[in-house]
Amino acid sequence: MSNFFITTAIDYINGRPHLGHAYEKIGADVLKRYKLLTGGSSYLLVGTDEHSINVLKSAQEKGLDPKTYCDQMAGHFRHLCSVFNISYDRFIRTTDSDHKKVVQQVVQRLWEHGYIRKDLYAGFYCESCEAFLQEELLLDGYCPNHPTKKAVWVNEENYFFTLSRFQKQLEDHIQSNPEFIQPESRRNEIVNRLQAGLRDISISRSSMQWGIPFPQDESHTVYVWFDALLNYLTGAGCGSPNAVSQENWPPDVQIIGKDITWFHCIIWPAMLMALNLPLPKKIFGHGFLNLHGEKMSKTSGNILDPLQLAEEYGTDVVRYYLMKAIPWGQDGNFTLEGLITTYNNDLANDYGNLLSRTTAMINKYFNGQIPAPGVQTAAEVNIRAAAEETIENYHRFMAEMRYVNALTAVMQLIGTANLYIEETAPWQLFKDSSQHSRLASILYCLVEIIRLATWMLTPFMPSLKERVWSQLGLAGQEKVKCFTWGCEYDNVRINRQSPLFPRL
Ligand code: MSP
Repeated sequence: MSNFFITTAIDYINGRPHLGHAYEKIGADVLKRYKLLTGGSSYLLVGTDEHSINVLKSAQEKGLDPKTYCDQMAGHFRHLCSVFNISYDRFIRTTDSDHKKVVQQVVQRLWEHGYIRKDLYAGFYCESCEAFLQEELLLDGYCPNHPTKKAVWVNEENYFFTLSRFQKQLEDHIQSNPEFIQPESRRNEIVNRLQAGLRDISISRSSMQWGIPFPQDESHTVYVWFDALLNYLTGAGCGSPNAVSQENWPPDVQIIGKDITWFHCIIWPAMLMALNLPLPKKIFGHGFLNLHGEKMSKTSGNILDPLQLAEEYGTDVVRYYLMKAIPWGQDGNFTLEGLITTYNNDLANDYGNLLSRTTAMINKYFNGQIPAPGVQTAAEVNIRAAAEETIENYHRFMAEMRYVNALTAVMQLIGTANLYIEETAPWQLFKDSSQHSRLASILYCLVEIIRLATWMLTPFMPSLKERVWSQLGLAGQEKVKCFTWGCEYDNVRINRQSPLFPRL
């Protein structure tokens, strides 16, 4: 196990994945790729949450047994990851046998330590959230998160986890670790809700057969959220709660959507406290990807097919747009017009154009060979300073998952480079042989900016580098230093091709 451990929420699989599912994984993958790019190692966990009532119902509707149905659906989620270049290290399924073992061992341990008791549960339940709901939160009998889904009345004897015992410990942890729940707005929501006081929660269902058998009473299954949250322990490769070590635990960041912060910031840490295990360093609740102003969700049918988008515009372009258009942590609207405008402005006009102009000029003025720098003026000193400042800002933004800021900084550098071409007018210098050495410096600077910007874009657009290196003649020269100005291009011949991002 490597040192920077990232997890994502595991998806319900009662329908095919939509773009909202892809969104979360892309954000997590960007962070993992960034960690790798900066010389670190990282482990990314993704997967599927399979023991839900809706999965059971969907399987029944199709006349399939739930496991067969899950095998098929999990395949679609894996495919989504592969199309979107999600570089996960494990794709965990809650039907995996090692996970079942971990869940049962955890229940056993909590039982032995007196954290589980039997009681009657009588109340409302939302089958889409898979959550027990307080009556006062319902809107006309409907779940506030699923306005098309009427909450069902549940009345059964269940096993309860003594969540209320962790109130003080949770309050103290959240207060003394401001980084624990991010962004700030999510932290405030949790702190406010926590003030209302914690109640013990039901962690078994007697009316649900599709699930992991409750070890003390096989007529019950483990409540799907209790089961699902433990995927992080299984996925860490612990194999058992006793096998947790500093090598594999705790996660550095757990990335989830804002609708499931309560489960992750309260219930999950309390489970870990009861197990006497370290808590994750950070839980980051990103915002919703909306379509026509409403959350993309299969319950409301308001969804976009990520595979079709990737097919039409390319994976890199969709990834870039999602990370550039919506500040990670906030809600944002997906629009095709937005995607096309962002593509045309940033990728076709600014980045693509810079590459195209630079390679054309190197062909024309230097016979296709990247020149070494020659005479330099203040303009060259300034553009190098701009690049170095961008790199510094980029690292700061990436470390905080401020992806929009990081991408904006890179695009500003590209804009500065395009302006630099206008201001230095290489086509004039070419006419004057005494300016040849300066001309070499200008083209060298432009290649440096393209190279550095490409590295910075790599976490967002994993296939970009290969295509650009092919045009710059850098293929196979991975030794080119990542984030440092001053690469030496010995005998590198560019290989100009058709535009990287043709205008749409
Ligand atoms: N199975 C639970 C999570 C268990 S984690 C131990 C679940 N599944 S889900 O399929 O409903 O959602 C999976 C993740 O996708 C969640 O983090 C959720 O917030 C995210 N998203 C689902 N729709 C989304 C958008 N429209 N926009 C952004 N993220 C969205 O909750």
